[in-house]
This record gives sequence, structure tokens and C-alpha cells, in this order.
Amino acid sequence: MENMDRQKRPPAGEAQTHSRLGMEMVVNPSPDHGPGPAFLGPEETAAVRAIHTALPEYRETALVRLDALAEELGVRAVFVKDESTRFGLKAFKGLGGIYALYCAVCDQLGLRRDQVSFAQLQAPPLRERVERMVFATATDGNHGKGVVWAASKLGCSAHVYMPRGSSPLRAQAIRDAGRAEVLITDLTYDGAVRYAARMAEEKGWTLIQDTSWPGYEQIPRTIVQGYTTMAWEAAAQLDTAGERPTHVFLQAGVGAMAGGVLGYLRSRYAAAPLTAAIVEPREVACIFRSAQVHDGAPHEAVGSGVTIMAGLNCGEPCTVVWPILRDQADFYFSCPDWVAAHGMRLLHRAGVTSGESGAFTAGLASMLARAELADWKAALGLDENAVLLLFSTEGDTDPVAYKKIVDENAFPVPQI
Ligand SMILES: Cc1ncc(COP(=O)(O)O)c(C=O)c1O
Repeated sequence: MENMDRQKRPPAGEAQTHSRLGMEMVVNPSPDHGPGPAFLGPEETAAVRAIHTALPEYRETALVRLDALAEELGVRAVFVKDESTRFGLKAFKGLGGIYALYCAVCDQLGLRRDQVSFAQLQAPPLRERVERMVFATATDGNHGKGVVWAASKLGCSAHVYMPRGSSPLRAQAIRDAGRAEVLITDLTYDGAVRYAARMAEEKGWTLIQDTSWPGYEQIPRTIVQGYTTMAWEAAAQLDTAGERPTHVFLQAGVGAMAGGVLGYLRSRYAAAPLTAAIVEPREVACIFRSAQVHDGAPHEAVGSGVTIMAGLNCGEPCTVVWPILRDQADFYFSCPDWVAAHGMRLLHRAGVTSGESGAFTAGLASMLARAELADWKAALGLDENAVLLLFSTEGDTDPVAYKKIVDENAFPVPQI
């Protein structure tokens, strides 16, 4: 990919927006289906996997075939990668946290990554030096839990800042993951990120943030790389099943996960057609908004900023992956909260425990089966030969909300 180092490129064609059933879709007029950037390519991501697979907690997560959804949608197959069991943390985010922390520690110790393992950092003589390091981050829950877990494996502590309205259950889950000071602030997610960055700067802590901005890109890049292990596992599991994805739907907050996975998949399936859609909550859809404005630059979301999808409640795109999302995705969706709730119930019936941010794309896939959206489905090319890949990125990270939505039908599909 040629445009990685340019935040802005002249747009080609017009990005059209379509609205239906409370959902919106933007079509990328000139998507680039070439390989992703080198930092998400086979060589660099193999080094990431070597760190992950050597961890005692490492287990491949399940790839579940969703036959009922495939039948409803009229496609050959739908698969969902179930990240609810990743490292015992209920979400995929630890993949990014632990790899970024490992890289940051190696860099601070002046050690080359190919010469030191995670286990060596945990043992004398390096441990005494590592233990003195302190980390900071802002989080809606899942990323912070991953950072605290990774830090505690190295005997380090972390300071974690959460946005206003964060679930106390998610805050407690972070404290339970290791040695952490956790504060629910009265800031937005993006405000909490800025606050964490300022605190880290003032106190000399290392900021491990899952989004980036000009001048802070090295650590976020390693987080994005960390997420590729999940896509690598899914691709290997599909190989074993004798399948190849023709479509992938990726939910986005700042877009680090979606960009990382898409960049990896574009290289992994370079010779084959793969249609990619980025999916965000209607009230906070920064990638969607940027695709809609279509001037090449990332833009802030415009909406109320209120959504049940805590993990996706981010108003500013991650600059490290923005060029991938801008150039290498085909469609952008913004959908209301009930789409996520619908997805949670659907996945629950299929035996997959999936939280609000995890189940969003399954909800969209099911909505695309509706007759009112037949032309959207056709535009996406979802036909009887399609194989759709989804990532359920979290389990029931807020068990009380999960119960309300799944057992009591909160946020029902409206009669429209
Ligand atoms: C469960 C879950 N899914 C998806 C995402 C989206 O990741 P990103 O912010 O990289 O777009 C998050 C982010 O916190 C998350 O917690």
C-alpha cells in the first residue's frame, strides 16, 4: 500500500450515502484491494504471533459456524470468531495490550525484540528493571483490562482512566486483572485519552494507548499489530474448514482493530476478492463520517455520543490505521443500538456469548436479510457463494446489561 504515510489523498469519485431502517451505508467509490501495509504483512505479524503463542495463557479461540444466520441471509456460510475466551479476559483486546507492553519494555531496556522473550522479561536479572516501570491508559474497559493484565505479568502497576458513565462492573474487572488504580472520570473517551497522555507525561509513566495521533504512533502501531493474531487464527481455521472468506464485517471504535485486521487480511488474501465493511454505532461513527466527508482526512464523529456499545464509543479515528480504513474498505455502516442488541440475542441462540460491541456485525448481517435491504445486500455481493467472516470481539463484559438485553429483550428491533 502506497499511501500509509499520507493522512490525506485526493478523493476519487463520490462517496454516496444510502439511508434505510435507521441505518446508513456509505459506498467507497474506489477501494484499493491490494496488499495491506508492510507492518501488517506476513513477516512482521509472524513476530507478533511468536510472542502470543509462547504465553502460557495462549489458546486459539473458537471459530463458530452460524448456519441459521447463513440460511437467513442466503449465503454459503457465516463464521464468527468468538473472542469471549481470549486470555480469560472476555475480549480480544489483551492481544494488543500485551504485545505493545512487551515492545515498549524492550525499547526502554534497549533490547532487540528478536533477542528477548516475554518470559525473559519476567525473570531475573531483567525483572528488577522492568518492575519499576509504570503504565497508563484510557479505556472503556476491555483495553484497560488487557494492559493491567499484561503489566501485572511483569510485576508492574498501571493507572487507568475511564470515560464518564463507564460501567462500575467493567472498572472492577480491570482492578481484578492486576495492580491498577482505576478512575472513572467525567470526560468523554477522547477526553480521557488526552488526560491519560497528560498524566503519563507529567509522572514519567509509559502511555499504552489503543489509538494514535500525530507524534504518538509507535506504541499504537504495535497494538494494531497485536490484533492480527486473531485474524491469523481465523484464516488458519477457515483453511482447515476448506473455506475462504469473501466478505468481512468489522466493527470500529477508533478503528485500530478494524484497520489491523483488514490490513492483515488484504495481504493474506491478496489474490482473492474480499469485500470489507466497517460498522459503527450511529451516534458515534467517526470512520463513517470521515468516509462520508470523503476529503481524504479523518474527521470527528457528529452524533450524541451515547451508545450501549461502550467499546465502540470513540469519536476520533486512529491515525495509524486511517489510511487502511479509508482506502481498503468497500462499505461503511452506521447503525442504531438495537442492531447490536439483536446481534447479541442471535449469537446467544447460536451458543456464542457476545456483548454489545461484539455482536454488532452479526446484527447487521441479520438485518441485511430483510426484503427492504435487498438492494444493499446485492450491492455488497452477498449471494449464495458468499462466505462472511465476523469477529465477536467480547463476551458478557457487563453481565447485568447482557442479561437485560438477552433475557429481557431490552433494545428490541423496532417495528419498521
Ligand atoms: C469489544 C470491542 N470490540 C471492538 C472494539 C473496537 O476497537 P477499536 O477502538 O480499535 O476500533 C473495542 C474497543 O475497545 C472493544 O472493546
